[in-house]
Amino acid sequence: MYVCICAAVTDTEVRSCIARGARTVEEVGEACEAGTGCGSCHDHIDVFLAAGHAPSELAELPISA
Ligand code: FES
Repeated sequence: MYVCICAAVTDTEVRSCIARGARTVEEVGEACEAGTGCGSCHDHIDVFLAAGHAPSELAELPISA
């Protein structure tokens, strides 16, 4: 699925950029060009950023001995 139509960037590519260290919409744009055109996809990229950096649900589970 395309996240950014202007740059023809898919969700897989955006996830890959985030996995490689992109932390902002601007950094995603520098890494893969997503969001560097009209800007209408910035909110969508933000959703991927939030999901990519959300703490794992498993990490929040209590540790039992
Ligand atoms: S759709 Fe991403 S910059 Fe236009």
